[in-house]
Amino acid sequence: MRVKWLKLKNFRNYEECFVEFFDGLNLISGKNGQGKTNLVEAVMLNALTKSPRTSSDFDLKKEDTDFSEAEVCLQRNYGEVRLKCRISQELKKQFFINDNEVKKLSEVFGNLVAVYFSPADLKIVSGGPADRRDFIDTDISQLSGSYYTLLQRYTKVLDQRNKLLKTIHNRQEIEEQIDIWNEQLATLAGHIIKTRKSFIKKLSLPAMETIKFITGGSDKLTLNYIGAQGETSEEIKTEILKSLQNNLPRDMELGYTTIGPHRDDIKFSLNGHDSRIFASQGQQRSIVLALKIAELEIFEAELNEKPVLVLDDVFSELDSARQKSLYEKFRGVQVLMTGTLFKFKPDEDYLSIAVKQGIVKTKIMEKKK
Ligand SMILES: Nc1ncnc2c1ncn2[C@@H]1O[C@H](COP(=O)(O)OP(=O)(O)OP(=O)(O)O)[C@@H](O)[C@H]1O
Ligand SMILES: [Mg+2]
Repeated sequence: MRVKWLKLKNFRNYEECFVEFFDGLNLISGKNGQGKTNLVEAVMLNALTKSPRTSSDFDLKKEDTDFSEAEVCLQRNYGEVRLKCRISQELKKQFFINDNEVKKLSEVFGNLVAVYFSPADLKIVSGGPADRRDFIDTDISQLSGSYYTLLQRYTKVLDQRNKLLKTIHNRQEIEEQIDIWNEQLATLAGHIIKTRKSFIKKLSLPAMETIKFITGGSDKLTLNYIGAQGETSEEIKTEILKSLQNNLPRDMELGYTTIGPHRDDIKFSLNGHDSRIFASQGQQRSIVLALKIAELEIFEAELNEKPVLVLDDVFSELDSARQKSLYEKFRGVQVLMTGTLFKFKPDEDYLSIAVKQGIVKTKIMEKKK
């Protein structure tokens, strides 16, 4: 798939902007603080229903304006789709597909499917469990809006259970009321964990192969889901239900639910060692790169077309071997890439997008014969 164009109104430091992208490589360049990341952030907003770098939607609205809009036009293999996000004081955040407002955010997912990679993604390996859960949940949601709905429902039920734990301190009274929440929570958890485990399994092989390719052959990467045991969602549900019951005294004491998919983790092991603790910075970067390339492959297999690749400020950070391996992998994929300085020379035509203080100038650069 391709992003054909992007249109902004009062988005970050852009008052108005219209960019027609190239089908292949798009190099977004400019000095620091000019609006390069803002451009790709606007694209990703329509893929993820939220910014990849802030949880506050109002940060996206240009200062001292009433509303903000970021619209993309996609070319999918089945036709054109326009997606638009509008943020305003009164109505908060709305999404539109071909000008029709969507009722649920989950409807937005699966239209623009993109692999996004920024320096902050190093936290997928080096950060806490929440960063890794976020990584996998975002990925799966892009392919399945119903998974996103599942997460929302889980969070709601979890809130209800936690409210009960916080407000009632009498053991018998809690036991009378909590079963109904345990049952619902365990059912949803069974589906969530099952889906996550399947995704990790799919991610494993291409990630394992890519890391070998990046590091020259010897490194072995394994991915493991750390959470309830079980293969089927029924088995996992039974496990969760047992743990919820066993952990009730602790949950009551703390006033929140201490087990479940909202506490799980993913372990990335490099040559048998937990890479969060043992891997060097360079190795951690290679692991994240391998995961992103694996994502590209999985998304393509699931969609039957190539996703869009968005690289914010990462390409120039990679050494030439890693640059080359990535470049090989994204042939035929539309790439939106930002950077202050591009040292490499693409061996294909590309679009140069120069950004200066929220103003964009594009130029088609032809391959040197
Ligand atoms: N809500 C907003 N309203 C107005 N301007 C904003 C808003 N949010 C961010 N900016 C401005 O956008 C600019 C940063 O844009 P961006 O992050 O895209 O920079 P960049 O070109 O990617 O820089 P770098 O090379 O440092 O990554 C800053 O000048 C910042 O003040
Ligand atoms: Mg930037």
